[in-house]
Formats: sequence, structure tokens, C-alpha cells
Amino acid sequence: TAPKPLAGKRAIVTSGPTHEPIDPVRYIANRSSGTQGHAIAAALARAGADVTLVSGPVSLDDPRGVRTVHVERAEEMRDAVLLALPADIAVMVAAVADWRVASASGEKIKKQADGATPVLSLTENPDILKVIGHHARRPALVVGFAAETNNVEQNGRAKLERKGADFIVANDVSPETGIMGGARNRVAIISRDGIDRWPDMGKDEVAEKLVALIAERFK
Ligand code: C5P
Repeated sequence: TAPKPLAGKRAIVTSGPTHEPIDPVRYIANRSSGTQGHAIAAALARAGADVTLVSGPVSLDDPRGVRTVHVERAEEMRDAVLLALPADIAVMVAAVADWRVASASGEKIKKQADGATPVLSLTENPDILKVIGHHARRPALVVGFAAETNNVEQNGRAKLERKGADFIVANDVSPETGIMGGARNRVAIISRDGIDRWPDMGKDEVAEKLVALIAERFK
């Protein structure tokens, strides 16, 4: 039987995008398939962890052996994450929308006869990773992601401090990399010990290696 290095550990994973409503039929979102987050949740479960996956809207099946909570908005995602505490491990992979529409319309916004266009006023969403990284019941190990298009490592290191994470998994999501929505990923693991650059590999493999790194910390 496979070794279960994380048996008895509780983990929370966020994955996918969030959808922030504009009105009942429209929303603001971002390009995230949930592939990497779901792969990490599945890998944690295979390593024996008790996993709660908080997923935004994705077209993926719920991973096997994982408790999956489906949410739409960032605030719902934050609430579901806090409900899943306490935990030993938090891996925040979701591409949470940084802003939501300040007051979403309860009715579908209609085109105006005079051609006037709606103006959307935005307000900041909660930063779930930051909330968890500084929480009174902070999991022993907090992992964040940093999807960057430039200065990947520098921005990742700043993020580590600001958000109270132990690891930042930094990846270059420039359109030419094909990482966003793709099956492969090339990441750099940033911790207080320095930077570990991993070669290009499948997202499943990134998940396996990340879970091995997490298990190492609990030895
Ligand atoms: O600041 P930035 O969005 O680049 O940070 C990315 C990391 O923070 C990811 O781990 C992401 O899941 C998390 N995050 C979050 N809530 C937000 C924004 C980002 O949990 N509102």
C-alpha cells in the first residue's frame, strides 16, 4: 500500500476562479481552469490528508476522496475556508478576483435607448490567503501561489512576507507560456530558505512534488 505521510493532517485547498456578479446574468471572472488546485487537493488526499477543497466555478469533476465545497464569489470562498478551520495545511491556489462590483444589480442591466453605457464601480475583495496567513488559528503550513507575468521571483518573495505564507509557488503566466488553462506548469518555490526552480512538468507532477515538500515539513 502507498505510504500516507499526511495521515491525520487536515488540509484546505482553494481552486479555480471566482465569479463576481454584475447582475443576475453577468459576472467578472479570470482565466483559471482549476487544474492545478484540483490536482493538489487530490494529491494531498492520496498522501492521507483529510482535505476540504473550496472550488470556484470550474468544469472539472470533484476529486476523489476529497470534501469539495462549491462557491461562486470571493466572499463565499473566504467564508467556506474559515468554516473549514482548524487545519494543519492551507494551499491557496484559487485565482480569486481582486475586485467585485460594489453594488451588483438585482435585475439584468438593460441597454439604454440613448446609448448611455453602464459604469461599474468596483470594491476590493478579501484576500483569503492573507486572512489565513495572519489568522489566530493559522494552519502550521500556509502555501500561496503567485501568478506573475514579470519579476516572478521578486514579486513572489514580497508576497511571502505580506501574506504570511511559508511557501509561494510562483509561476509565469505570460500568455506565451500557455500555463493558464494548460496541462503543464513551470514553477519556482519561494520560501524563507531561498528559491527552488523546478523544471517544466505536468500539473499533476507539480502537485505530487509540492505534496512531498509539504510532507517533508511534517516529518
Ligand atoms: O496577490 P495575488 O493575487 O497575486 O496572490 C496570489 C495568491 O493569493 C494565491 O495563493 C491566491 O490564491 C491568493 N489570493 C487569495 N485571495 C485573493 C487574492 C489572492 O487567497 N483575494
